Amino acid sequence: MSRLWLSCFLLASAPAFAADPFYWGVGHSAFQVEGSPVESDWTRWTRIPGKIADGSNADRATDFWKRYEEDFDLAKTLGANAFRLSIAWERLEPKKGAWDEDALTHYEKIVLAARARGLEPVVTLHHFVLPAWLVDEGGLESKDFPGLFAAYADRVVRRLSNSPASVKWWVTINEPMVLTHAGYLTGEWPPGRTNDARGAMRAAANMARAHLETVRRARTLGNAALKFSVAAHYRVFQPKTDRIWHRAAAKLSNWAFNWQFLEAVHTGKLRFWMPGSEFIRETIPLPDGRSSLDYVGLNYYGRMITELGFDAPFVKVSEGPGPKNDLGWEMYPEGLSIALKELHDGLGLPIFVTENGVADALDDKRPNFVANHVAALKYAQSEGVNVVGYLHWSLTDNFEWAKGLVSRFGLVEVDYATLEKKPRASFETYRKIIEESRE
Ligand code: GAL
Repeated sequence: MSRLWLSCFLLASAPAFAADPFYWGVGHSAFQVEGSPVESDWTRWTRIPGKIADGSNADRATDFWKRYEEDFDLAKTLGANAFRLSIAWERLEPKKGAWDEDALTHYEKIVLAARARGLEPVVTLHHFVLPAWLVDEGGLESKDFPGLFAAYADRVVRRLSNSPASVKWWVTINEPMVLTHAGYLTGEWPPGRTNDARGAMRAAANMARAHLETVRRARTLGNAALKFSVAAHYRVFQPKTDRIWHRAAAKLSNWAFNWQFLEAVHTGKLRFWMPGSEFIRETIPLPDGRSSLDYVGLNYYGRMITELGFDAPFVKVSEGPGPKNDLGWEMYPEGLSIALKELHDGLGLPIFVTENGVADALDDKRPNFVANHVAALKYAQSEGVNVVGYLHWSLTDNFEWAKGLVSRFGLVEVDYATLEKKPRASFETYRKIIEESRE
């Protein structure tokens, strides 16, 4: 056991958090839970045989669109005081320029139902899914994407940041680099391109432009309570050995996956490149002359081991040696402390853990997973990192993208035949952690 990890265990029994109030909660995204979807790239994707591992789709999912109160009741029982959810752009603008006001009103109702149970809403504007009409016009790569996104976001922010919903915490774009990777390099997600480095970097740069324009518009509203970020999926990259070339591989991966996007939206200097792409170099004035990030949203799932090989793709990344979850991802709680520290040192902003969770159908790993990650978070706090909240992914099982409904990320089990929800043992573990932190 390393010294850092030992300290985590010792600190797990340390007294409560300093942040006031510290946000304890859960998160999910529209497409993964809502059901009754409107046509999007993902509804199309789920119709293509072979794209979803278990052949399932998200047509019903957990039916959150209709049963949201059930979820908020569960979150209240958990003792949570925050809930992250996302807005489906395709519901609000099912056809270009044709806005569905009823859908926005429904989201307002959802947010108010959360508020009524003492849950602070954290609202994501884009969580992987694009309206079908936009895909037909070039999707993330379209030159119009930043403007179209910012116009959609502006509508949502104006409505939901106002009373009665009064949403303060906003995530513009969820995991832009994961989307870039899965959509343009591995092809597991729409638009299903493989090794398309040019497309990948164009998409990433466009998401940075969209984020910057969204925050620029939001800051003109003059509401100082509003806080914007992206949710950055941050992987801890560690070299296979101490050899300089493996260390170089780790540094390069860290820059490409973790920092390329964050630096762009933090400084306004877009520098997007990967082998095989053009070099995108552009400077966008920062909204109000300061970072477009009011805080950093961190999605943490694990670490990767890097090595430099002699043949393409030269930099190779693989899972670390530790115990794995149902999807074969290493569970590495110590990495949460490392990620928090690196983000703190690099950006100097408050950090909100917007996702952290585990695929574990039997729930025999999740209780420890939660406890160990919270311990790692406390350790980072003790080192001076300003962490404002922790949102576990996820309250309930949900549609896990290309893996389908089989992957189970919930503190609460969902029976997809009856839609019955049953809290797992880890629900109780997390409930106790929350309760004890408030004593
Ligand atoms: C994240 C993503 C979520 C969820 C989670 C578990 O990358 O934002 O939507 O799928 O991973 O894999």
